[in-house]
Amino acid sequence: MKIDEIYKYVESRLKGEGTGHDYFHALRVENVATMIANNEGGNIEIIKVSALLHDVIDRKVCDDIEVETKNIEKLLLDCKFTKEEIILIFDIINNISYSKGNVPNSLEGKIVQDADRLDALGMIGIARTFAYGGKKNRPLYDENNNANSLYHFDEKLFKLINLMNTETGRKYAKNRNEKLKYFYDEFMKEWNSIDLL
Ligand code: ADP
Ligand code: NI
Repeated sequence: MKIDEIYKYVESRLKGEGTGHDYFHALRVENVATMIANNEGGNIEIIKVSALLHDVIDRKVCDDIEVETKNIEKLLLDCKFTKEEIILIFDIINNISYSKGNVPNSLEGKIVQDADRLDALGMIGIARTFAYGGKKNRPLYDENNNANSLYHFDEKLFKLINLMNTETGRKYAKNRNEKLKYFYDEFMKEWNSIDLL
């Protein structure tokens, strides 16, 4: 298959990443994006490759975006993707991030964006949020300072369910969003020790 080399490349780039954007995140996004595509359609190979590569040129994990962009272009050409396919893949990975506030144009991109967002929800989304906060030396919670991990739930995570692009993504997000809400409420009860009353 064309994409074997891509797994190796992504693993080499994201290995040891400590903020929840590691190789296993890329593999989960690939897997969930494929599940969504089974319902929604789209070109599976483009979806898998874009899911695997989606965080490699993120500022959080890469120092020189220009160099990394060239590396990816060469890799995709070596893997026999056409110029048109490469343009499509870059449109996806350049527009997927929540912070940029964009939506990729293609169905494939919308599916990968949904899969990335699903990994920010649920039990793993919770784990990733606190891993990120720990790496940045932030406290779990601080009512007087927004630079804390729990604040990320209000700032971003609870908004994601309304930003899903596909029906299937929205359906998957419901259950994971419920888990977030449950965690948040129980966390606050324990914070104030009222769970023990
Ligand atoms: P995107 O790649 O969509 O722009 P981010 O890379 O900002 O999203 O976030 C991906 C995940 O990293 C979040 O869902 C969360 O788990 C963690 N994360 C990012 N920013 C923060 C933050 N400020 N506090 C806690 N966790 C964060
Ligand atoms: Ni991601």
